[in-house]
Amino acid sequence: MPAHTATAALEPPAPAPRPVTGTTPAERHSLDVALQGVGRSFTTAEGPRTVLRDVTLTVSPGEVLAVIGASGCGKSTLLRAVGGLDTAFDGRVLIGGSPVLPYDERTAVGFQEPRLLPWRTIRRNVELGLPRGLDRAEGRERVHHLLELVGLAPFADHRPREVSGGMAQRTSLARALARRPGVLLLDEPFGALDALTRLRMQDLLLDVHAATGTTVLLVTHDVEEALQLADRVLLLSRPRPVPGGPDPAPGATVGRIVDVPGPRPRDRADAGLARLRSDLLEGLGVESHSH
Ligand SMILES: Nc1ncnc2c1ncn2[C@@H]1O[C@H](COP(=O)(O)OP(=O)(O)OP(=O)(O)O)[C@@H](O)[C@H]1O
Ligand SMILES: [Mg+2]
Repeated sequence: MPAHTATAALEPPAPAPRPVTGTTPAERHSLDVALQGVGRSFTTAEGPRTVLRDVTLTVSPGEVLAVIGASGCGKSTLLRAVGGLDTAFDGRVLIGGSPVLPYDERTAVGFQEPRLLPWRTIRRNVELGLPRGLDRAEGRERVHHLLELVGLAPFADHRPREVSGGMAQRTSLARALARRPGVLLLDEPFGALDALTRLRMQDLLLDVHAATGTTVLLVTHDVEEALQLADRVLLLSRPRPVPGGPDPAPGATVGRIVDVPGPRPRDRADAGLARLRSDLLEGLGVESHSH
């Protein structure tokens, strides 16, 4: 394994925001997401276990919503429901006003690991994300523009093992965008990257959002990332059990939805953001010593 610094040195600088040829305003695409009383229980050896309860929320078209919460509170479970990867949830999920479908093609999902096919080139991996039935020439052009957007055009003919972790993750992002999703679902997409690459990927996500207009649901452990990228933050938390009493409400609930003020990119040193940061860290059960 190369050291993180070596990986970062291989990383080409994040591309500057620029209009992408072919991404005309008419092609910008975003859909709203409505969660209505969404819950999920699993059957386990110890009996039924409720993970999510009664999550109700509307995400506007083009909004970036960050989802944070302690490990195991149900963030991935929620994202899977929105993407149609899990259909056994309670309540309703509407995408653009109509119910989510199994493996809903109006959405695309990106994961913590890039999940690329090692024997395919970067370009051919991105092609895997194209919707079925798309004209071949149009597909090739779309992939070309996406590789430019994520700064990978010079590496299009490389195999995944020949590129850095950050570049593999950019490939995964481009593959998700190839479908031109109305809603982009990202589950800890930068969680496995070194700190510098992670910051570059955050900038890249903002560029991608500016270029495509897609609605983004971003699951992250990183409060700082949420504050840099999101319009609003959904903090999932479990109600505190009453000492000695029965568990009042098992399962995670919507703790709180927080507006993040100010246009992006945001000043990390901003006093309002600092207050919000300690507030969210407290909500996660982490002591904050920032002020
Ligand atoms: N198919 C399943 N069967 C049983 N339990 C499950 C299943 N899928 C998830 N769970 C449980 O639901 C809970 C929430 O899981 P989930 O993966 O959504 O958490 P998370 O918030 O994404 O956590 P992390 O931050 O660690 O990724 C966990 O306790 C997990 O064990
Ligand atoms: Mg998860």
